[in-house]
Amino acid sequence: MSVELFNTISNSSVGHYVLFAALLLGVFKLTTLVLNFSAVIFDSFILPPVNFKKYGGGARGNNGKWAVITGASDGIGKEYAFQLAAKGLNIVLVSRTESKLEVVANEIKAKYPTTQTKVVAFDASTDTPANYLTLRHAIEELAVTVLINNVGQSHSIPVPFLETEDKELRDIITINNTATLKITQTVAPIIEATVNKSNKKIKGLILTMGSFGGLLPTPYLATYSGSKAFLQAWSAALAGELKPKGIDVELIISYLVTSNMSKIKRTSATIPNPKQFVGSVLRSVGRRGGAQERYATSTPYWSHALMHFAIESTVGVYSKVANKLNLQMHQQIRTRALKKAARLSQQKKTE
Ligand SMILES: NC(=O)c1ccc[n+]([C@@H]2O[C@H](COP(=O)([O-])OP(=O)(O)OC[C@H]3O[C@@H](n4cnc5c(N)ncnc54)[C@H](OP(=O)(O)O)[C@@H]3O)[C@@H](O)[C@H]2O)c1
Repeated sequence: MSVELFNTISNSSVGHYVLFAALLLGVFKLTTLVLNFSAVIFDSFILPPVNFKKYGGGARGNNGKWAVITGASDGIGKEYAFQLAAKGLNIVLVSRTESKLEVVANEIKAKYPTTQTKVVAFDASTDTPANYLTLRHAIEELAVTVLINNVGQSHSIPVPFLETEDKELRDIITINNTATLKITQTVAPIIEATVNKSNKKIKGLILTMGSFGGLLPTPYLATYSGSKAFLQAWSAALAGELKPKGIDVELIISYLVTSNMSKIKRTSATIPNPKQFVGSVLRSVGRRGGAQERYATSTPYWSHALMHFAIESTVGVYSKVANKLNLQMHQQIRTRALKKAARLSQQKKTE
């Protein structure tokens, strides 16, 4: 705005109102920003851990309540299993490989002898009714209060959408979306029955693993990105439906965590290990961390929370700038991954 135009506006009576309104809007925006940032700091660093007794924690054994965890044989899901057992819940471990589940179950029983465990193995990419029937039969007599929708698949390496292989595309959507929805339809009624039996003294809890890949449209991980964005809308919608039934539903947003899926082994300020990450999730259930603008959503790990808040309060998650930076980052990761694959295949040939 030129100085002349500014003087003309401010000297007219209408101009006074316009400037006053602009000032009020500025003060309102700044106040909202400061309040939201304070909430991020409180959620991430100051508030005490949530007490899991409200979700049935504490009892274990025959009188204990149960948590069902998918993708529980490895990575983040395995850590959910250990930390929920530590909070006094019995554990149903679900994943593809029975032998790996048995090992985790035995490790849990060795660490928490009074904890009961059950294992349920099926391949979520097959999406057959038998999968959900097997799960229902395994848990229908149990007092389930918690479901952790953790199972997920990403692309093996970043790939242009038009070059994504058919099996990879279908597996991602089937595992991340269809199976997650069907598992929730199987488990949620059992949680509802447990909550009702307690006269709503105990609450139910359904956590679903989202991702920065779903928060930000992510070129070269387009199918994974879309599948996790789908979970955001689905989970928040479900939260509205199940709240009156005494079941809290939350989407958990995470940036990178060390695991087989991320292929990252070394932790850093922005990349926690599963123990650190799951610790941040369970201590802050019901709080939003970096996801202050989103209902029934949490970005709990402190550095992820600050990153989420910074992006949302500046360029915005759907901006051209964020999309371009994300594209460049994933193109570079793809180039490095292809070079590594070529190196390994050359090594194999010479062996
Ligand atoms: N790691 C990250 O950086 C990161 C970041 C954001 C979000 N997330 C999300 O966090 C969740 C867990 O990721 P993670 O890194 O812990 O993965 P992970 O270490 O690769 O573990 C994956 C788990 O899922 C199970 N699984 C995989 N495919 C399956 C299938 N077809 N049927 C049944 N079970 C299957 C695996 O079981 P088997 O061992 O039996 O195959 C394993 O227990 C995912 O939803 C992911 O999208 C991860």
